Amino acid sequence: MGGNIRIGALISGGGTNLQAIIDACEDGRINGDMVFVGSDHPNVKGLERANKHHIPSFVVEYGPFVQSYRNNPDQFPLPDDFAYSEIVANQHLFHSDAIEERVRAFFYTRAAAEKKLLSKINSFAPVNLLVLAGFMRNLTPYFIDRFNTDPNNPRIMNIHPAILPSFPGVDGYGDTFRYGCKAGGCTVHFIDYGEDSGPIIGQRTFPILETDTLEDVKRKGLEQEWLLYPECIQNFAKGLIKTVKTTHRLANGEVYQRTVVKTAQER
Ligand code: GAR
Repeated sequence: MGGNIRIGALISGGGTNLQAIIDACEDGRINGDMVFVGSDHPNVKGLERANKHHIPSFVVEYGPFVQSYRNNPDQFPLPDDFAYSEIVANQHLFHSDAIEERVRAFFYTRAAAEKKLLSKINSFAPVNLLVLAGFMRNLTPYFIDRFNTDPNNPRIMNIHPAILPSFPGVDGYGDTFRYGCKAGGCTVHFIDYGEDSGPIIGQRTFPILETDTLEDVKRKGLEQEWLLYPECIQNFAKGLIKTVKTTHRLANGEVYQRTVVKTAQER
């Protein structure tokens, strides 16, 4: 890729990762420009950060969609291009034995919120990369397929506060600490249809000492996140990242496939 890529960010809170990415764009460690910041909550510190750097921002709250569905599920306005059964077949967020009414309520309300998100995002087109920087909502196949128009070139990145696939979910550092791990870490990955799953782009680790508190673990982890995310984004901006499907045969003849990210070395 030549020149600067156009990056959009979604956040839910404080936005220290967002800040690290903005700083790296501004001082040339990322060949990119942050073109918008979207949040699912108003009045969060991350939005102030965007404002301070004159980056346009918007808010799409999910709560009103959930409320409107609860009030009148039969009249809930769905996006015209929403295909429920296809989305349920593709998603990896719910187990097949999950209560159907819960699954339906989740995907209906998410698709409606995501349609609004997409329309905001499209007003900043072209957007080369979407970074989830502490965005605490799982995106569904409805959103992912509309943003990732080329399935071989994913372009939605997430940062997670654990060494995936360990400790997915909302409290990666808490889970790491409570389990008594001797090391913690963070992961940047492309998102797929599951929760905190998808091909891993980069990971960083740190030691956890016996004297460390949960606060220490969070602080050490965030310090690594602020280094890792800009590095991964810069590799993407330079066109060094490729997602490849590989097939492997085990000694017992079993065959398995995996999708891995390969980062080329700079010449
Ligand atoms: C970060 O630790 C990030 O890894 C985590 O939220 C925090 C956001 O901090 N993200 C997730 O847990 C996503 N599942 P920040 O708003 O200061 O960047």
